[in-house]
Amino acid sequence: MGALSDTLSVPVLGVFISGRGSNFQAIHQAIQSGVLSARIGLVISDRDADGLVYANANNLPCVVCHRSDFSTQAEHDAAMLEQCKRAQVNWIVLAGYMRILSAGFLAKYPDKVLNIHPSLLPKFKGLYPQRQALAAGESESGCTVHYVIPEVDSGSIILQHRVPIYDGDTEAQLSARILEEEHKAYVAALKIVLGDDE
Ligand code: GAR
Repeated sequence: MGALSDTLSVPVLGVFISGRGSNFQAIHQAIQSGVLSARIGLVISDRDADGLVYANANNLPCVVCHRSDFSTQAEHDAAMLEQCKRAQVNWIVLAGYMRILSAGFLAKYPDKVLNIHPSLLPKFKGLYPQRQALAAGESESGCTVHYVIPEVDSGSIILQHRVPIYDGDTEAQLSARILEEEHKAYVAALKIVLGDDE
């Protein structure tokens, strides 16, 4: 009974992905190894993302809501919201989800939607932040976990992890260095917001 009630009382995450899903995997592995006390109630994607292979292999509930199946963004968001409600999701975790959630969606999960972005926000918002950091001649970059608000990449910062930029770094090298930190940063940020860091 103890184990069952523990499972039922932990926060339920809805993880949104669009691609390979390595941040999602890092979060799942942190849960599996007991580092993070939470449950993934749903993995949701807007396309046939590579990360769904891992979700299926690990028997995690997942659903694909193709944007092209809906005529408006509002309908797409409403469908995803319905899936989250059905899965009793408490927290939305954007992990490489490459769409902007509407203000209407966010209003249904106030202060419960997190995102990770591969730059030291407020620097280099939007697409290709690693490329932007290199083009700006920065000597360091990193990643930011933040709350999501309607303005893209602009919500309150939960934490940042920094990495150096070396002379001659390529975009791929910098991205890989940042990604390694992302996996740690997302778990650490979740522990903070879920009150699991004492
Ligand atoms: C990560 O680098 C994440 O920070 C970035 O997409 C990648 C997803 O990797 N997200 C954004 O740029 C959002 N603005 P993953 O699918 O392996 O987690």
